[in-house]
Amino acid sequence: MGGYRLVDLCVMVDTPLERRTVLKAAGTAAGAAAVLGPLGLARPAAAASTTFQHGVASGDPLPDSVLLWTRVTPTADAKPGSGVGPTVTVTWEVATDAAFRSIVRRGTFETGPSRDHTVKVDVKGLRPDTDYHYRFRYKTTNSTVGRTHTAPAYDADVAHLKLGVVSCANWEAGYFSAYRHLAQRGDLDAVVHLGDYIYEYGTGGFAAAGRVVRPHQPSHEIVTLQDYRVRHATYKTDPDLQALHAAVPWIITWDDHEVANDAWSGGAENHQPATEGNWADRVAAAHKAYAEWMPVRLGADGAIYRRLRFGTLADLSMLDLRSYRSQQAGGVATDDPTRSITGHAQMDWLLAGLAASEARWKIVGNPVMISRLDFGTLPAWLLGPLAKLIGIPSNGYAPNSDAWDGYNADREQLVNYLRAHELSNVVFITGDIHTSWASELTTRSTVWSPTAVEFVVTSVTSDNFDDFAHVAPDTLSLVAGGILRAANPHVKWNELDQHGFGVLDVTPDTCRMDWWFVNDRTRADSGAYLAKSFSVGNGVARIREESAPTARGSAAL
Ligand SMILES: [Fe+2]
Repeated sequence: MGGYRLVDLCVMVDTPLERRTVLKAAGTAAGAAAVLGPLGLARPAAAASTTFQHGVASGDPLPDSVLLWTRVTPTADAKPGSGVGPTVTVTWEVATDAAFRSIVRRGTFETGPSRDHTVKVDVKGLRPDTDYHYRFRYKTTNSTVGRTHTAPAYDADVAHLKLGVVSCANWEAGYFSAYRHLAQRGDLDAVVHLGDYIYEYGTGGFAAAGRVVRPHQPSHEIVTLQDYRVRHATYKTDPDLQALHAAVPWIITWDDHEVANDAWSGGAENHQPATEGNWADRVAAAHKAYAEWMPVRLGADGAIYRRLRFGTLADLSMLDLRSYRSQQAGGVATDDPTRSITGHAQMDWLLAGLAASEARWKIVGNPVMISRLDFGTLPAWLLGPLAKLIGIPSNGYAPNSDAWDGYNADREQLVNYLRAHELSNVVFITGDIHTSWASELTTRSTVWSPTAVEFVVTSVTSDNFDDFAHVAPDTLSLVAGGILRAANPHVKWNELDQHGFGVLDVTPDTCRMDWWFVNDRTRADSGAYLAKSFSVGNGVARIREESAPTARGSAAL
């Protein structure tokens, strides 16, 4: 088991779940199987449309268990956030076949208004590296069928791991075609979501270049538990999001917008205590709704940072860079060693986990960019939209104080630790910045000697450079991108205009990221195309561009 133990996961023991879950051996499925689309993907079935209208999901696969999720609407008045409706019992079933002829686990779960009628089951006793199908039933209505996959055994010699990588899906800025294209691939072991699964703004507060493509609910900024529940429920009605949840297990962490913009441990840029109340109350409300609505294991103390493992091939450390961080600050404060982006306990856990890892690749699910970013000689007319994108003052030079750049001491500590312990094959996969980057990780004192690499995926829909600048794609951004690369030689590639998703392809020899872009985020039927690929080889913290297409080819989808 090496450096990985179940305790690393800060596993949430959901008491009602544990009490009421009844495991049974194989039985006979009742009711009809859900409709299966191409590649066996579950599609919403008519019978499930009202009772299980928020879809099904799975998450955090371990070799012997996986988390299953749904939300039941037992009566018309039991709407999300309503706090009303009966307490009901939902049956869940796990089978090795989509027709549920071979059910291997079955149980019941009691839910009601206290948890917004969500259902979350940690199914145990499964086989490693195995496909499973699952569904829920309330009275005579079955949910759609979801498909999930357990992690390989900890000591398994894993030859290949493929992960979808996404972040920043703003409902009002467009459609989630990125999720649909990932769902249709059929070759993913899991999807990693690096945060900003929802956005907290009121309608129009963060639209697509100023245009609301589709309004979300509620229309006001979300602050209360009821608000957060309703917003989560809105997202869970999206058919592309439902399709991806039903297709593969997700491994997720939160960034700031799951609570409020530029959150830190004691507040947020988008939180005004005078009108929106106590910050701790808002965080508690947001996190309760998140725990209810997301297929993720949280620690007993609510901690989301955790580590998963895929045999001897890869570890995946998922970070929380919001809950414990010091307040954002610029200038000399960015070097203050008393300020932290991880908090001391999480940093200790991360470093110890990296050192103890026996996996070939040590992947870090990193919500905000760790690579340094100097703005060089960008003229004001280019710095303006970039400042808006990154959230820095637009009147001159400033570091990106919301990313690791605002917490230099933490980055130095991490890099120095990796170097001191001669730890190689560390790959950061990152979201947040709504743009695409392939960089080698250096510090001021190791400019020409990278220690790790970072692959940053763009947003599913959220605004980026051309949207903020109100110009066509590939115009000003090409100039700005070039200047940024010149000022930051460790940045090997960046792209500032497109939206889409990443696919991380891991083998013992290489770790490769493919950047896929969607043609038009404002169209529900948008196609997608492979735009760029970079990889890093075993033992070498240098990235190289890949020209060969992936096994699935480079054709547009
Ligand atoms: Fe975002």
